[in-house]
Amino acid sequence: MKVVGGSASVSLAKGIARELKAAFVDVAFEKHSGGFPDSERYVRLLGPVGGEHVILVQTTHPDAMVVEFLMLADAIRDAGARRLTAVVPYFGYGRQDKRFLEGEAVSAKAIGKHVAADADELLTMAVHNPDVLKTFSIPAVDVDGIPALGRYLKGVDVDMLIAPDDNAIRFAKTASAICGKRYDYLEKKRIDSHTVEITPKKLDVRGKSIAIVDDVISTGGTIGTVTKELRSQGARRVIAACVHGLFVDNAEANLKACDDVIATDTIQSEFTKGSVAPESAAAIRALG
Ligand code: R5P
Repeated sequence: MKVVGGSASVSLAKGIARELKAAFVDVAFEKHSGGFPDSERYVRLLGPVGGEHVILVQTTHPDAMVVEFLMLADAIRDAGARRLTAVVPYFGYGRQDKRFLEGEAVSAKAIGKHVAADADELLTMAVHNPDVLKTFSIPAVDVDGIPALGRYLKGVDVDMLIAPDDNAIRFAKTASAICGKRYDYLEKKRIDSHTVEITPKKLDVRGKSIAIVDDVISTGGTIGTVTKELRSQGARRVIAACVHGLFVDNAEANLKACDDVIATDTIQSEFTKGSVAPESAAAIRALG
């Protein structure tokens, strides 16, 4: 078995290789294609993969990382790999999982079709809607990304976890079982893509250090609003914890409300603290 990492996921790919005791294959990445100054991506495998079961790890965000994924999968196949398992830690475009308006692309399906073209199977982590995986042409399994947060939160100054909405209760529950800290939840109403409202609810947070646990931080609108609510109820410290740290648009300003921000390595950033490598490796082993 050999592990290849796209440039969005080199560190996680190395972690998965260590967990699996598999060889890591280096890749040369350039931002020009074949020496042409056109800002297109260029990838080159720097080791042999012929006859191997290859694990390709690459988050498909932002767009250029989709292109890298497709080129690496093609290069791995051309180099004679026997089997290709695609690990897409953050499945970009996964949130447009249905046609809301006539004529729209179902982006998750469109990207999935191409990701599946050269792969034998696919693993995602905390994908927005796991049902979308059923539409892909290869077996696809979603892996829980929350345990990485649970492990990290066990060792830090946190008294209690808060889910920002109903949907996130399952994330807080999983993290709570791992870090041993109790959880509660709020109810959120999304007004538009940048604005959310929190239904008033009294929480037992006075004087406590709180971690808000969610799958994604995108604009940070949810975290900013929930942090203000927690502070108004007397929380001493607020940490924002997510699996996928996208941090787009106003995120930097919104996250200033928090004392700390942590994310996993599904999207590598300055906030990456926990790794999903153990769960990824376990899911790969389970494929047989
Ligand atoms: C929503 O269902 C998700 O779990 C997140 O709460 C949401 O994507 C966060 O987005 P933002 O950071 O833009 O509020």
